[in-house]
Amino acid sequence: MSAQTTQPTFTNTLMPEPAKFTAGQGSFALTSSFTVAAPQFRDERLDAGIGRMLHRLEYQTGVPISKAIQKDSAGASLVIEVKGAGEMVQSVDEDESYSLNVAANGVKLQANTVVGALRGMETLLQLVQVSGSGYILPAVSIEDTPRFRWRGLLIDCGRHFEPVSVIERTLDGMAAVKLNVLHWHLTEDQGFRIESKIYPKLTGMGSDGLYYTQDQAKEVVAYARARGIRVVPEFDMPGHSVSWFVGYPEISSGSGPYQVRREFGISDEAMDPTRDSVYKFLDNFIGEMTTIFPDPYLHIGGDETKGVQWKQNPKIVEFMQKHDLKDPAALQAYFNQHLLKILEKHHRHMIGWDEVLNPALPKDVMIQSWRGEESLGASAKQGYQGILSAPYYLDAMKSAEEHYLADPLPSTSDLTPEQRTLILGGEVCMWGEQINEGTIDSRIWPRTAVIAERFWSPENVRDVDDMYRRLAVVSVRLEAFGLTHITHEDVGLRALTGTKDIDALRVFASVLQPVSFGNRYQGQHTSQLTPLNHLVDAVRPDPPSRHDLEVLVNAFLQNPSQHEAERHQLENIFSSWTAAAPKVQQQVAASPLLAEDATTGRAQQFAQLAQIGSEAVARLAGGNGSQADWKQNSLAVLDAAQKPQGLVRFTVLDPLRKLVEAGQ
Ligand code: ACM
Repeated sequence: MSAQTTQPTFTNTLMPEPAKFTAGQGSFALTSSFTVAAPQFRDERLDAGIGRMLHRLEYQTGVPISKAIQKDSAGASLVIEVKGAGEMVQSVDEDESYSLNVAANGVKLQANTVVGALRGMETLLQLVQVSGSGYILPAVSIEDTPRFRWRGLLIDCGRHFEPVSVIERTLDGMAAVKLNVLHWHLTEDQGFRIESKIYPKLTGMGSDGLYYTQDQAKEVVAYARARGIRVVPEFDMPGHSVSWFVGYPEISSGSGPYQVRREFGISDEAMDPTRDSVYKFLDNFIGEMTTIFPDPYLHIGGDETKGVQWKQNPKIVEFMQKHDLKDPAALQAYFNQHLLKILEKHHRHMIGWDEVLNPALPKDVMIQSWRGEESLGASAKQGYQGILSAPYYLDAMKSAEEHYLADPLPSTSDLTPEQRTLILGGEVCMWGEQINEGTIDSRIWPRTAVIAERFWSPENVRDVDDMYRRLAVVSVRLEAFGLTHITHEDVGLRALTGTKDIDALRVFASVLQPVSFGNRYQGQHTSQLTPLNHLVDAVRPDPPSRHDLEVLVNAFLQNPSQHEAERHQLENIFSSWTAAAPKVQQQVAASPLLAEDATTGRAQQFAQLAQIGSEAVARLAGGNGSQADWKQNSLAVLDAAQKPQGLVRFTVLDPLRKLVEAGQ
C-alpha cells in the first residue's frame, strides 16, 4: 500500500506527525463490539493507559466500548503487543517508539515499552474520524519514534501557584501531544511551593499557604509517570531565592529579615556560597526532595544572579579575594561545584540555565538555554549536553507559526555530528508572572502542541498551513481533558461585563491578542498582587483569526473579481465586525474595568478596521482600484492601529494591509 492509493476519506489530523506513515485502503469501523487484547507483557501502568484510551474513544464517538482487556488476541479488534515495562524510572534513554497498523479487519499496536504503547494509543485516538453516520480508524501503517529525547514543558508555579488539578490536566494535554518532561519550577523569589518536613518554614513563611504537600507532589509524579512523562523539579539557586530566606535568613548573603517578594524582575538577594552551613542545608533539602522526585535530573536554576548582595557583604568580598574568585560568575561557579557534589551524593545529574556554563564544571552538567541557539551551540562546542528554550517562551505571545518554525537543531547548524548528539531537545517555557489558574491554559494551549511536533517529528515537517489545519482539530480535542484554553475567553468576557450578553465582544476579542510579556510589564507594571482579570487576560495568543484571514485574503487576491466564495466570506467577516462594533463601544464604556488599558481606543479602531475591510473588498471585487487618498487614509488608520496602545493588539492588520495595498 502506498500514499498514491490513499482513500479520499483519510484526513490527517495527527499532531505530532509520525516519523513515517502510509495511508492504506479502507478503514476499521468503530462499533460497540470493539475489543482489546494485550497478549504479551502487561502491568498496571499499561492496563490503566488502555483503560483511559477506551474511555476517551467512547467519549469521542459515543459508541459504548467494553473496558475488558483480553489475553487472547484471536478476534480482538485492537491487539496491543508490548515487550516489557521499560525503565523503572523513566530516563532520556527510554524507548518511546511504536508501530501502529490499521486494516479493515483489525488494529495492531506494537512497542518495546509501555511508554511506547502509550504514545501509540495517543496516535490511535487522533486517527479517529467520521465516516458517514459513524466513526472509523482509516487504514494506515505507522512507524514512529521521536526526533528528540527531551521534549519538555516548564511550568513556573513560584510566581503564581497552580493547583494540582491544573498541573494534572496539563499533563494530560502533554501526553496527548507526546511531550515527555514536566519541568516543575517550584521555587522563586515570590513563593516556595514544595513542602519540606526538615525545613518547614520554607513553605510555612515563604508560600502564603500556597504550596504542594509532599503527598500531592508524589501524586503529580505518579500521574505523570502513568502518562510516560518525567518530572524534573527546579529549585532555583543561588538567586531567585528570596522565599527561602523568609524562614531561613541564615542561608542568605545578607542579614534579613526578608519577606516574600511581590515585585518581579531580578532581585539582589542570593544564597551565601561561602558558608559550610549553607551546603549542609542544601544537602539535607536536596536529599529530602529526592525522596519525592525520582528523576535522574535535578534542575538547580542558576539564572540571573548578579551578585549584588555578595558585593555588599564584606565577608563574602574577603572570601572571594582569598580564593581568587574574581567576579560573581566565579563565585557562582564555586557554589555550583559544591552543589554538584551534593547532587552526586544523591545520584542526580545537574541541569541549569545558561549561566551555570563554566569550564570549572564537568561535562556531565546539562545546559538549558534561555539565551538562544548560539548560546546552546557554544555549550555543545565545549562538550556539554543541552536543551533549547529561548524560542519557546510562551509569554512572548508569538504566533504558533513562529514557535513552530524554530528548530532546536536545524540542518543548517554548524555543529559537528558529534556535537549535534549533545542537543537532547527542547522545552516550552510557561513563566508565571502574568498567568493564574484561569489563564494558564490559553497561554499553553494550543500553541504548545505545535512545538511538541517540532520536538517529535522529522525536521522537514514544516508546512505552516497544514499545521494550522491540524491544530484546529487538536485544540478542540484537548478540551476533553478539562483544559479551558478556548472556553476561558468567554468566561473572561462575561466577568468583564457582568453579563452573558457577550456576542459582540466575542467578535472583537477574536481579532485581539495579548501584548508580549515585556510590553505588558511596561504598560501595567504587574506584581504578584496585580489582579489578572483584564481584557488582556481573556483574549488568546494567536487566535485562529490571524492565520484564517491571511489564508482567505491570499486566496481572494489571486483574482478578486473571480473568487466569489472568498469574497463572500470576507464580506461576512467584515460585516460581522461592523455589526459588533457599536455594541462593543457601548459595553466598553459601561465597564470601568474593560475601559481601562486603552480598550476604548481599540474599540474605536475596530470599527475603522471593519469599514476598511468592507471597502477594500468592494473596491477590489468591483474592479475599481483604490483612489489614492482612500488608500493613504486607510493605511494611516492601519498604522495607527499597529501602534502600541494598552495591553492588547490586533491580529488582522497584515491581511488588511494586503487588501488595501492590492488596489491600484
Ligand atoms: C530565565 O528566563 N531567566 C531562565
